Formats: sequence, structure tokens, C-alpha cells
Amino acid sequence: MKKILIINGPNLNLLGNREKNFYGKTTLNNIKTICEEYCKKNEMECNFFQSNHEGELIEKIHLAANDYAGIIINPAAYTHTSIALLDALRAIEKPKIEVHISNIYSRDDYRRKSITSEAVDGIICGFGEKGYTLAIDAIKNLIYKKNND
Ligand code: DQA
Repeated sequence: MKKILIINGPNLNLLGNREKNFYGKTTLNNIKTICEEYCKKNEMECNFFQSNHEGELIEKIHLAANDYAGIIINPAAYTHTSIALLDALRAIEKPKIEVHISNIYSRDDYRRKSITSEAVDGIICGFGEKGYTLAIDAIKNLIYKKNND
């Protein structure tokens, strides 16, 4: 069974209370359950992880080199600032999808640049929590496409 890593960056543990106009009412725990169930339906497994610490996110990404078939990541604010996360993602030659709950291109100017997206296969943003299941569909396609090449 293919295992994927779903990584969430800073402040996403506050979903459900935080800026509901952008991020909705769903908690991160709800999103975790949705992802686990959706992966199961798709004959995959996921490890759903959140941290507020850049180094912990980086160390988790490193694990994907051996333990996972692909990465889905919502780097949150580190999207716009972290060359360290970009480099960590670049080091992993596996399918990678970036997700944002909100549409980062319709918000503040400083959110319009995603540094981390330079290392991923594609981005899904602006579809709320649904973005995570769309990303699972996308990564499944990439994993099986790569396997059949
Ligand atoms: C976010 C968008 C980022 O700009 C922001 O810093 C977040 C969440 C999103 O999911 O929409 O924390 O990644």
C-alpha cells in the first residue's frame, strides 16, 4: 500500500477558530479524518503531520526520501519565506503537491509569491478543505504515472 505524507505548517493547528473568512470552520483534526478516509478509499495510507517549527517540518520532509511515495504540503506562512523548506522539498525526488486552503493569489501582495512551489509538481489553492482531497487525487495520479513510466 502506498504511503503519503501530508504536512501542515504554522498556525494550521488553529483552523476552526482562525480567520474563518479565509479558512472556514473546519478544524485540522476534521481535515485529518477526511484525508485518512479518502486515502483508505484510494488504497493508500497517510501520515498527517502539523508543526509550528520550520526545523521539524524540514526533518519530516527528509523522511519522505525512504518512507513515503509522495508529499502533500501546506507550508502556511513559510510558503512565502522559507528557502530552507524549498531546499528540503527539492532534495526529495518524489511527487509533491502544495495545498492552500485560501486563494493566496487573491489576498495580500506578500502572499502572492510562493517560494516553496518552485519545488513541487503543482499547487491547489482556493478550494477550502476540499483542496486536500483534490491533492490526494493529484498525487495518486502522479505516483501511478511515475510507476508506469
Ligand atoms: C495558507 C495561506 C498562507 O498565506 C497563510 O500564511 C496560512 C495558510 C492557506 O492554507 O491558505 O497560514 O497556507
